[in-house]
Amino acid sequence: MKMTREQKYRRLEDVAPQEIEQLLHQSESSPWRQQYHIQPAMGLLNDPNGFAYYDGYYHLFYQWFPLGTDHGLKYWYHLKSTDLTNWIDCGIGVKPGDWFDSHGAYSGSGITHDGKLYLMYTGNTRDTQWQRHPYQCMAIMNEDGEIHKLKEPVIANVPAGYTDHFRDPKVWQDGEWFYCVIGAQRDDLTGAIVLYRSRHMLEWELLGELQTMLPQFGYMWECPDYFEMNGQAVLLFCPQGIASEGEQYRNIYQSGYVSGKPLQLPQLELEHGSFRELDVGFDFYAPQTALGPNGRRILVGWMGLPDIAYPTDDQGWAHCLTLPRELELRKDGVLLQRPVQELALRRGEKAEFAGILSEGRSSYAGIDGIAYELDCRVDLTAMDTNTTAAQAFGMELRVGEQEHTLLRYEANRQRLILDRSASGQPLAEDYGTIRSCELERPLERLQIFVDVSSIEIFANDGEAVFTSRIFPQPSSQGIVFFAEAGQVGLHVEKWNYCFKSQQ
Ligand code: FRU
Repeated sequence: MKMTREQKYRRLEDVAPQEIEQLLHQSESSPWRQQYHIQPAMGLLNDPNGFAYYDGYYHLFYQWFPLGTDHGLKYWYHLKSTDLTNWIDCGIGVKPGDWFDSHGAYSGSGITHDGKLYLMYTGNTRDTQWQRHPYQCMAIMNEDGEIHKLKEPVIANVPAGYTDHFRDPKVWQDGEWFYCVIGAQRDDLTGAIVLYRSRHMLEWELLGELQTMLPQFGYMWECPDYFEMNGQAVLLFCPQGIASEGEQYRNIYQSGYVSGKPLQLPQLELEHGSFRELDVGFDFYAPQTALGPNGRRILVGWMGLPDIAYPTDDQGWAHCLTLPRELELRKDGVLLQRPVQELALRRGEKAEFAGILSEGRSSYAGIDGIAYELDCRVDLTAMDTNTTAAQAFGMELRVGEQEHTLLRYEANRQRLILDRSASGQPLAEDYGTIRSCELERPLERLQIFVDVSSIEIFANDGEAVFTSRIFPQPSSQGIVFFAEAGQVGLHVEKWNYCFKSQQ
């Protein structure tokens, strides 16, 4: 049910406790509540925000509209963790409602400065004509976890040449300067990124527009993120308005990256290679990275997309975050993404199979479930002259009487295919029900994380990732492996994932 504008911009404190109780109850009763992903207690979650390592914890916030599953008045909700796996619930982090964020505390980022965590975000406001006016704002968290917003924005205007689609500051530090990139739309309605710098995070000097090699690429770039790794630069961003091209750019909006030579700031030219999608699944957007101890770079994304209806919308809640992934940048500029190793802390009861799967279909004792990690080592080389390696191999997950989610690998084309056409409750079918990609080398490993209503697939140690929501019946818990026109050597380990309650 669509909410009215008035309903969407009510403050939480003006809402009757019974209404909140009812929403909470409605969300809790949803059959698709996740067991080990970060999800809102009620209402809508979108972008990860303020992801940073500070004072011994990873701090992670998310965009939250508590009162329904529309995009209404956005808060930042706060969690923290020492291990990226068990999260402590810290409650609301940034509350909108001042003149500079009257219509939402929109996305932004965090960085340590002066012993505190600085959270820079976009204050969204609307005037009486419902025109949007963005301000770049600052909230500061001290060691006691108290967050105070500054009384004035730190960047109060949109520079000439850009529309009011100007948001999502991502901050980093380089020597004595702090820099930030902001997602923007030029007056000619094309997407861009604008750069600022600051000495102490309070006054920001406009450096200008980042000069990329993609001058005309969509109508708006959201959620930029710039970092350097192994002597190379990576720029993540979410271009909107890119037409699909074969297997590429199939979702409503895309998220991806370019990599290249580090910026020589204050020069603004970024020399880089081609734009690559970060994730080839159905539900992935607005990722953000944090720099952890020992220079590790961790990425979390929103497992959802704007402007798409989801099956939980009428159950009072929508969306979750992806599992955290550790990034590695190869010499050729390709990012590898692996689930963080700390996730092994969630591993519970184990089931295992090692052997040959001959042509046909097979299930194995104990290898099934609703919330688990599945690690499959796959040998598709012929074992001797009397055997043939399978031409296709795959599995059906969350199998029930009427439904399954299909993952299929075709050896001749090195193609990995995810098909959610029979996964359960359909969604976003206008954007297709199949996603696929060509792997660089033959399939050797599939690491799969299944939760009640999602699946994250990491192929060949992070070469390709498929992130998707699925909405099967809770009783659909089977896993069926198959091999076609030959055999496959398999070593499958499955761990049930236990839910450790948030404190
Ligand atoms: C991306 C986005 C951001 C914005 C936020 C608002 O999903 O549109 O650009 O800051 O969501 O919730």
